[in-house]
Order: sequence, then structure tokens, then C-alpha cells
Amino acid sequence: MIRSIATSALVATTLTLASGAYAAGAGGHVTDYDFSFEGPFGSYDQAQLQRGLQVYTQVCSGCHGLKYVPLRSLGDESGPGYSDAEVRAYAEQNFEVFDEEEDDYRPARPTDNFPENNAVGAPDLSLMAKARAGFHGPYGTGLNQFFKGMGGAEYIASLLTGYTGEQQEQAGTILYENEAYPGTWIGMAPPLYGDDVAYAEGQPEPTLEQEAKDVAAFLMWTAEPKMMARKQAGFAGVVFLTILAVLLYLTNKRIWAPIKKRDT
Ligand code: HEC
Repeated sequence: MIRSIATSALVATTLTLASGAYAAGAGGHVTDYDFSFEGPFGSYDQAQLQRGLQVYTQVCSGCHGLKYVPLRSLGDESGPGYSDAEVRAYAEQNFEVFDEEEDDYRPARPTDNFPENNAVGAPDLSLMAKARAGFHGPYGTGLNQFFKGMGGAEYIASLLTGYTGEQQEQAGTILYENEAYPGTWIGMAPPLYGDDVAYAEGQPEPTLEQEAKDVAAFLMWTAEPKMMARKQAGFAGVVFLTILAVLLYLTNKRIWAPIKKRDT
């Protein structure tokens, strides 16, 4: 009886793992890039977030919106960290939003969110890094995320660098071959080639890989702006629980000490 239960459990597990692999699809190769925010003490690299914002603004925002991200959050200490004046200037210069009271478009303000963009049916990128976080690793189990810290940022960077140059037309749309995309053929033309933006002096060269990693880090921040606060709270929690565990252990010993003594 026990043996048959164990066997069927094993079969079920194997089937789940196998179908996970199938769901992950053919292709879908994700490179394990290093990011500053990995690990329990990792944090965002402010200069990288600023470069990523630049790539998003000058390249991706043409097709993709960021409608859940408030422009004022660009001033967050744990984010790009711009001053109030810089955030205001950035919003005004780069985006227009529709104002219902004025019934017209006006330059964006820090109190607005980034606009949405449905021009070509590209998905909103606000939460993309979280949405594509898991299921990498052996058989789509998501173990790579757990053990190597691989998540949505790695996927986005791999996607942007994963084009093979092949394309095909299907029902009137052009699809581009991409090694990282789970279905291999994606409807997004390669958005980056390297040298697409000019980084400020003292910053790294804007190679394809550098731009891809920078915008991926920026999108990780838009999806999880409070990651550092979360890690700090988690660390404080672990320290607290460790101390509590030691105290409880000692208390337990003390409470039972008279009885143990009596037994021996
Ligand atoms: C010319 C328009 C265009 C530009 C520019 C563009 N994209 Fe896209 N993107 C698309 C479209 C269209 C899709 C949907 C593709 C599909 O579903 O096949 C897409 C899909 C995506 C996806 C989702 C892939 C998935 O797993 O479903 C990500 C991530 C992405 N783009 C990131 C970016 C980034 C980052 C940039 C800037 C470096 C960028 N895109 C620039 C049009 C664009």
C-alpha cells in the first residue's frame, strides 16, 4: 500500500516537472547576468537606474507605457534619486498626458504617472520584470531564481540581446527569432543594437549588453521599487527570530531542569 502510494506520488511529481518543462517552451535561453541588487544585501545601483531610465525614455517608451509608475518616484532615494527640480524637468520635457479637467494634453507633472502606450499593442512594462520572474531553471521549476537569483531582469536583458537576426512573415506580421523568448518568434523588432543612446561622461560605453542590462535593472526597479526596504525588513526579522529562538531554548532548558535532574 505504502509502496504504491509512493510510486504514484513519484509519477505525479515527474509528470508535473515534465509538463513544467513543456510549458516553459522550446528555446527560452536566459543568461545569468550579474546585477547589483542580487543576494540578501544587494541594492540598486543608482547610476545604472539613471542609465536605464534614459534607455527606456529614448527607445522603449516609443512603444511601451509604464502606467503604474508615478513620475515622482524618480526622486526616491532607493531609486534613480533625482532632485525635485530634475524630476519636474524630466516629466515636462519627455511626456504629455491627457488632462480631463482641461480636456486637452499638457506636459506631464511629477504628480502624474508615466503615460500608457497602446500604439502598437506592446505590453505595459511597469510590472514586466515581476511577471517574467520565474520558471527558469531545470524543467521550468523556477529553481534558478531561488539558487542563482535569476529573475525577470535576467530575462529582459537576455531578450534584448537574444535576437539571431532571422525573421519571417506570418499572417502579415513580421516575427523575429529570439533565443530568450519562450515561443522563439517575437513580434518586437530588435529595439537595441548598441550606441542607441549617449551616456553621460564617466559612465560605461553604451554597448548592446550594457544598455540591455541597464534598462533591465531599471525595469526591475519599476516592478519592485521597495526591494531594498523589503530586504532590510527581512534581515531584521531573521535577526529577531534568531535571538528569540536562543532565548526560548534557554528558557525551555531552565523550566525542565528540575525534572531532568530528578530523573537521573
Ligand atoms: C517598435 C516598438 C517597440 C519598441 C521600440 C520596443 N518594444 Fe518591446 N515589444 C513590442 C511589441 C509589439 C511587443 C509584443 C511582442 C509579442 O508579443 O510578440 C513587445 C514585447 C516586449 C516584452 C515582453 C516579452 C514577453 O516576454 O512577452 C518586453 C520585456 C519588451 N518588449 C521590452 C522592451 C524594452 C526593454 C524596450 C526598449 C529597449 C522595448 N521593448 C522596445 C514593441 C516594441
